[in-house]
Amino acid sequence: MRRLEGKIALISGTARGIGKAAALRFAAEGALVVGGDLLHEEALETQRQIGREGGTALTPGPLDVTRPESVEAWVTEAAEAFGGIDIVLTNAGTVRFGPLAEQSYADYRTTVQSELDSVWLTVRAAWPHLTRSRGCVVTVGSTAGLTGSVSNHRTAHSAAKGGVIALTRQLAAEGAAHGIRANCVSPGLINTEGSRGNLLADTHPLRDTARHVPLGRLGLPQDIAAAAVFLASTEAAYISAANLVVDGGWSAVLPGPLT
Ligand SMILES: NC(=O)c1ccc[n+]([C@@H]2O[C@H](COP(=O)([O-])OP(=O)(O)OC[C@H]3O[C@@H](n4cnc5c(N)ncnc54)[C@H](O)[C@@H]3O)[C@@H](O)[C@H]2O)c1
Repeated sequence: MRRLEGKIALISGTARGIGKAAALRFAAEGALVVGGDLLHEEALETQRQIGREGGTALTPGPLDVTRPESVEAWVTEAAEAFGGIDIVLTNAGTVRFGPLAEQSYADYRTTVQSELDSVWLTVRAAWPHLTRSRGCVVTVGSTAGLTGSVSNHRTAHSAAKGGVIALTRQLAAEGAAHGIRANCVSPGLINTEGSRGNLLADTHPLRDTARHVPLGRLGLPQDIAAAAVFLASTEAAYISAANLVVDGGWSAVLPGPLT
């Protein structure tokens, strides 16, 4: 028996990276996946790949998780197409890094809107469906929501991801009466298109991070997808308000040479 058989799963940011890996994995586990992304053509390609692999997916139209009307239309199309929503995975987001003294308020707001407000908007829109299905929420936080960094200037990102972790706990609290579980998965440094464009770029001090990760490598999108499947599955039936850190031990262990 596949772990998400027949579950209707809403996943944002399915064009690439973690969202694409999650869409493919959720579908392989039997979920009916409703994807969405600003990069609509790439998200449609993810949908086609799921179809080729024998799964079921729908990508209603270009999605902007920062715009309430776009999120509400996406949720409505998902619920109408498949008859409800069981799982919401809030993955999409865009970050703007920069030292505090140099970052504009516009960049701060863009990051918080994209990484934190989007989670609230998506879960709020899906909430009536989740209360009917006694469903679950999986958010995507970050080790940036738990730690500071001397190598990465990220006040906006840290604030947003810390907010996602806190918001998830409150969703778990308010959802409990409706049978809704809410959990966060917090990746460390994952090798995706997004991180290759900034933190893993040739000139960035974090490019050699793999050497400082106890498990000796960067994360893969599939590592995060696997954690999200677990949190969404009945195997996690007694897990709510958790923040599952998936970082190869990076954020919990002081840097030092391997012996
Ligand atoms: N890659 C990492 O190292 C890392 C670490 C910790 C947390 N995360 C989190 O994981 C999630 C996915 O990251 P990723 O590395 O796969 O990123 P990515 O940039 O490779 O992919 C993100 C996807 O989200 C989409 N997206 C961005 N803004 C959107 C919007 N407003 N509406 C709809 N779609 C939008 C993008 O078009 C893209 O397809 C993000 O929440 C990110 O903060 C990533």
